[in-house]
Amino acid sequence: MAEAVGQIRDEEISEAQIAVHWREEEYYYPSPAFIGQANLTDPDINRRFSIEKFPDCFKEYAELLTWDQYWHTILDTSNAPFWRWFVGGKLNACFNCVDRHLAKYRNKAAFIFVPEPEDEPVVVLTYQELYNRVNEVAAMLRDFAGLKAGDRVTFHLPMTLDLPIMMLACARLGIIHSQVFGGFSGEACGLRIADSGSRVLVTIDGYYRNGRVIDHKVNADIAVQVAEQNGQKVDKVIVCKRHPGRNLSSAPMVKGRDFFFDEIMKEFANRKVDPVSMPSEAPLFLMYTSGTTGKPKGCQHGTGGYLSYVAWTSKYIQDIHPEDVYWCMADIGWITGHSYIVYGPLAVAATSVIYEGVPTYPDAGRPWRIAERLNVNIFHTSPTAIRQLRKSGPNEPQKYNYRFKHMTTVGEPIEPDVWRWYYEVVGKGQAVICDTWWQTENGGFLISTKPALDPMKPGSAGPPLPGIFPVIYDEEGNEVPAGSNRAGNLCIRNPWPGIFQTIWGDPERYVNQYYKRYCRNPNSKDWRDWPYFSGDGAMQAADGYFRILGRVDDVINVAGHRLGTKEIESACLTVEEVAEAAVVPVVDELRGRMPEVYVSLKPGVTPSKAIEEKVVHAIETIIGKIARPKRVWIVPDMPKTRSGKIMRRILAAISNTMEIGDTTTLLNPEVVEQVRQMVQGTGKVEIKAGPEDIRRFGEER
Ligand code: WT7
Repeated sequence: MAEAVGQIRDEEISEAQIAVHWREEEYYYPSPAFIGQANLTDPDINRRFSIEKFPDCFKEYAELLTWDQYWHTILDTSNAPFWRWFVGGKLNACFNCVDRHLAKYRNKAAFIFVPEPEDEPVVVLTYQELYNRVNEVAAMLRDFAGLKAGDRVTFHLPMTLDLPIMMLACARLGIIHSQVFGGFSGEACGLRIADSGSRVLVTIDGYYRNGRVIDHKVNADIAVQVAEQNGQKVDKVIVCKRHPGRNLSSAPMVKGRDFFFDEIMKEFANRKVDPVSMPSEAPLFLMYTSGTTGKPKGCQHGTGGYLSYVAWTSKYIQDIHPEDVYWCMADIGWITGHSYIVYGPLAVAATSVIYEGVPTYPDAGRPWRIAERLNVNIFHTSPTAIRQLRKSGPNEPQKYNYRFKHMTTVGEPIEPDVWRWYYEVVGKGQAVICDTWWQTENGGFLISTKPALDPMKPGSAGPPLPGIFPVIYDEEGNEVPAGSNRAGNLCIRNPWPGIFQTIWGDPERYVNQYYKRYCRNPNSKDWRDWPYFSGDGAMQAADGYFRILGRVDDVINVAGHRLGTKEIESACLTVEEVAEAAVVPVVDELRGRMPEVYVSLKPGVTPSKAIEEKVVHAIETIIGKIARPKRVWIVPDMPKTRSGKIMRRILAAISNTMEIGDTTTLLNPEVVEQVRQMVQGTGKVEIKAGPEDIRRFGEER
């Protein structure tokens, strides 16, 4: 295999290797019991959502919502590619997630919060009590924080009930929330505060993670400082408390700026605030994600389109019925949590479980104990979590008496043998699995089997959702047909209601990054001329199922979360000894991919363990622990082209013991062998084929 690969030209490698690697898996079928109760069993669905019916087919999505004023235009493309959905309509997202369920479900659990410490009791929040809290917080945000529709507010919150309550309170007033993942550093939070122009930050004193108390308020102080350095003053920091009446943080409260949530809320007890009727296209929230440049981009999601999309997919792909107990183990700080812990499930009156901690705390039986105790019957997680749970407790699920009807996986490709463990052991051979492919920009699922209608195929996400028309293009823009055994760039031909509206403050980047690549005519107002470029490589089997092969850009998917290599490189360059930095993805058994760092030092500086540690520390403080590299290599020099570009592709090949290819045209070919020996040792190493995203990594585009 290795020899064969070595003989063919670089460009041919991907296709040839995939043909070798790809073993068609067998189908698995949903059980009659599942089909018998499923929300979506209409085999006519694909015809109802055929391309001739686009965009009118999406009326069905809007119908799941309650509108204050019905829309007149389903899709306005007059300012393509800035799509506007359900134009003329007015609605309130909070009303749709909370108020409208009260008549029927007042006393049903909306959220069940499971603290990480196992001896701390769960907290059940009924729809009535959620309504009460959201109203009180909305009153506080309006009258104490002075926020109104269109303003932005940043949250830096972990997984407690404060977060969804804050989100819904904003939605009630049309305030645009921007939640920064709690595991991101204070600096990362500060940059996002500045970019979004938030003058209010909501944080918490502390929380539990892996058996430890994390002091979180300290990050807020850094965040405010960094925001100010970047031109945004924060005048109020609202500090929630993990245990009301106690303070888990050692950080001082800044007078006139920092306010404890429980203290300011006294004044707002029992207050009610009318939901503000917002235009369908009003922004609902920003979600920052990494891209190919160092600057994270704030994906702006709208109200009517987004909410209808997550509602429909929650009902028909997640198969959530109001009587189900649904648990998505993701963090609300990522898009998965926004769409499939909060907005989607609540729009369909679900009971949604929120778990504070790590899945393997205190042991790998924890998720299954929670499932048994709460009677969870729909479970949603990532391949990374599944791999971890399989590794540390392969036989744990069978010790617990729970029964899932449906399980979701999202965020990274799932290996067929991991899929099978999920199916046989976690699902006890009875649950359907949806391998859902989508992205922060997309709002909700784009590719997945329809659980009662389509057979599952391990390792393949499946067919597109109704009304979604993907296409795979090669570099020249030719369509790569299904069943050709060739890979290409995964694009979507048409807009859909869940698609993001723009990048906050940077519409040009929005167009360039997502629509320019395969645009047929930049002046066109016709959606057919503007395919959406996903940044993922994929191939389509003869049965129409898509297999996702990973990112084709400078983005590393770590444990299902996106990190930009440029962001990590800039963090490395803040270490004064470092002259140059290059970050590449390396395959990791549990986390899918991890960043690996190469640095060269300034003249006269001697390499040392201390410098390596400084680099790791810089990454953790500027981005967060999630970006912690697998290794840091201090190299004598970077392999470079004659024009001085660092050849990241060569470093990625070295890190993953893949074929390095021709290096004779480099500026300094001798460096490649030096670096290779440093990383791989001097003995003979077995060259691996390597997955598609790493083979394509660092290619010039
Ligand atoms: C990237 C998006 C919104 C989902 C959570 C991550 C990868 C996502 C799958 C899947 C293979 C997947 C892609 C995508 N990805 N789902 N089912 N199979 N890969 O959101 O941080 O925006 O990352 O995650 O590479 O581009 P994100």
